[in-house]
Amino acid sequence: MELDKKGTVSILIVEDEKIVAMDIAVSLKSVGYEVLGIVASGKDAIELVNQSPPDLILMDIKIKGSIDGIETAEIIQSQHDIPIVYLTAFADENTLSRARITAPYGYIIKPFDKKTAHTIIEIALYKNSMEKTIKENERWLSKILQYSGDAMIATDAHGKIKLMNKIAETETGWNTDEVTGRDINEILKLSDENTKEQINAPIIRLFSEDHEQDISKTAILIDKEMKEKLIAGTASWIKDDKNNTTGIVIVFRDITKQRNVEKERERLFKKVSLAQERLKVVSKRLLEVQESERRHIARELHDEIGQILTAIKINIQTAFKLAGSEKIESHLNEGVELIEEALFQVRKLSIDLRPSMLDDLGLIPALRWYVDRQSVRAGITAKVSVDETIMRLPNEIEITCFRVAQEALTNIIKHSQATHVEIMLYYEEGDLHLKIIDDGVGFNFFAAVQRSLKGESMGILGMQERVELIGGKIKINSKAGNGTTVHTIFPGEVINLK
Ligand SMILES: Nc1ncnc2c1ncn2[C@@H]1O[C@H](COP(=O)(O)OP(=O)(O)O)[C@@H](O)[C@H]1O
Ligand SMILES: [Mg+2]
Repeated sequence: MELDKKGTVSILIVEDEKIVAMDIAVSLKSVGYEVLGIVASGKDAIELVNQSPPDLILMDIKIKGSIDGIETAEIIQSQHDIPIVYLTAFADENTLSRARITAPYGYIIKPFDKKTAHTIIEIALYKNSMEKTIKENERWLSKILQYSGDAMIATDAHGKIKLMNKIAETETGWNTDEVTGRDINEILKLSDENTKEQINAPIIRLFSEDHEQDISKTAILIDKEMKEKLIAGTASWIKDDKNNTTGIVIVFRDITKQRNVEKERERLFKKVSLAQERLKVVSKRLLEVQESERRHIARELHDEIGQILTAIKINIQTAFKLAGSEKIESHLNEGVELIEEALFQVRKLSIDLRPSMLDDLGLIPALRWYVDRQSVRAGITAKVSVDETIMRLPNEIEITCFRVAQEALTNIIKHSQATHVEIMLYYEEGDLHLKIIDDGVGFNFFAAVQRSLKGESMGILGMQERVELIGGKIKINSKAGNGTTVHTIFPGEVINLK
């Protein structure tokens, strides 16, 4: 209690000699204390304290009544935390040792000296307030210790267990009462996580090799029932202000579940990665098969069906020359027109499936020719610019570029209402770039992808899939009213690898 607060300090005087009591009361008041009351017996003192507890009690040891000052103090202390200072004229050893048990805050020897009494009272008040603070701190600490999510064990400097929280009891299987005073190494039996070898070295060394620093380590804990669990923990030294070790705190937690979850996650991740890898291979193979199938059908259409149709056409034309009747001639004429239409369709189909130019002459002529053909048909202007240095590229790249351009151009014709389109093929810092730019209405790319993922369309997804499968990247930039750019990049290492 601080001195400047003494005005509010109330004191109860328990003294059966009236004159002495009055004298003490006057002295106390003169130094600023409030005298709560004067009582002559233990019974009265207890009653008054229960009614209105004072800040301090001055207790004469020898008082009237059935109980003396020491017994009175004992009763009061069992219910209140009030500092008690004994008043005594003389004391035999027996009385003093009885008094000592009640842990008095001091003795004032009669005759009462104002100055000494003042000092003793202040010390008693201070000591009491310090004790209250310490008790409060202890309560805090014990709550924190008990309700912390981690297991905690504290030992003295020699590793003898002093306390342990509930979680530590659960984790080790031991009760605090059973283990208090026992060596920590007997209770916290550990073995190496990997080798499973028992760790015989003192526990502290395992958890904290460096005295100054906490190092998180894992180990297997073998509990009282010999059950194993994986724990992770730290140990740290408790030091006093002279840097002497006074104890050790070990904090740990059971990470068995966590580890199992990690393992499971790892397993699933591997599984998914593998499946993805497999899917990639299958997709790639599918595209290869599709391309070769297309090439085959395109050739078939062009060479076989085209030849047959041409032969029929020639035959009919010959028949036409030989025919005499006008009726037959008109039929034959119609036949020739139909065959010409069929031939046109077959060629178109064949080219769309797989232009033989792509295989025979490569990407650039095929691209120029295809763009030309499509744009003329759609009535839009087109410009193809190609880096002069670009010659033939690896087969996969050529086909992918062609298919991207094909899909982009089809989209432009189908959706964009563009009037002009530009196709650029160039190298930049060793990477191959293909850009297809239109000046059309543009679209919401994100929304289009969402629709595609629902299975509504395949074009854009197909482009992305193709490009990414061979290690390229594709970016589609579009804004309503601002046209669309389809930008494909094949890194140099991808082109050179092929
Ligand atoms: N160049 C473009 N200009 C405007 N809209 C486009 C363009 N390209 C694609 N789109 C839009 O994106 C959608 C998805 O395209 P896509 O996946 O190729 O499917 P599909 O062409 O079969 O509709 C199209 O329906 C269209 O709305
Ligand atoms: Mg499309």
